Amino acid sequence: MKISIIVAKAKNDVIGKDNQLIWKLSSDLKLFKKITSGHHIIMGRKTYESVGRPLPNRVSVVISRNKNFELPSGHLVVHSLEEAIQVCIGRHLDQVFIIGGAEIYKQAIKIADELLVTQVEASPEGDAFFPYIDPKKWQIISSEHFEKDQNNQHSFDFVIYKRITK
Ligand SMILES: NC(=O)c1ccc[n+]([C@@H]2O[C@H](COP(=O)([O-])OP(=O)(O)OC[C@H]3O[C@@H](n4cnc5c(N)ncnc54)[C@H](OP(=O)(O)O)[C@@H]3O)[C@@H](O)[C@H]2O)c1
Repeated sequence: MKISIIVAKAKNDVIGKDNQLIWKLSSDLKLFKKITSGHHIIMGRKTYESVGRPLPNRVSVVISRNKNFELPSGHLVVHSLEEAIQVCIGRHLDQVFIIGGAEIYKQAIKIADELLVTQVEASPEGDAFFPYIDPKKWQIISSEHFEKDQNNQHSFDFVIYKRITK
């Protein structure tokens, strides 16, 4: 099963502030929807609460230490990243997407096979960060540029990294 991280991060690695996203990039949201639809998406409890509901056409797998945390039927609560991965392996999935936030990315970058990074041309203030992408461990295999316009507050590059080594 391929484990893919998907993230939108700024030049200074900021990904969020006050449990919110910090930019309006509708082309990026469309990419996110296209790539993740039909799949299981793994996320931390805070990211789930920031969105506020399960995203349509996807199975949400939410990681929390809270044994009483509940989700609408069809979605799953697990209590570690390892459990999230094991549940998805048990369902014989070809691929799973890890969609954040900072705490989960920090753990998941150690086990992911691929990083799908929207590299945003901005350096905003924030309180949630993506971990360092070590070029000794990760190689860029494709990159596509998107120019800013009335629906996209900043220019960005959609960059795919493959793991070279653990
Ligand atoms: N730009 C992007 O692409 C992107 C994507 C996603 C999120 N974000 C941003 O990231 C920020 C949220 O990130 P965050 O780091 O604060 O929160 P998070 O990673 O979404 O969730 C953290 C929570 O996950 C649970 N958790 C984490 N590790 C665990 C483990 N090993 N075992 C069991 N539970 C575990 C805990 O939940 P409990 O407290 O319930 O135990 C913890 O409080 C927001 O600003 C959001 O907007 C940005």
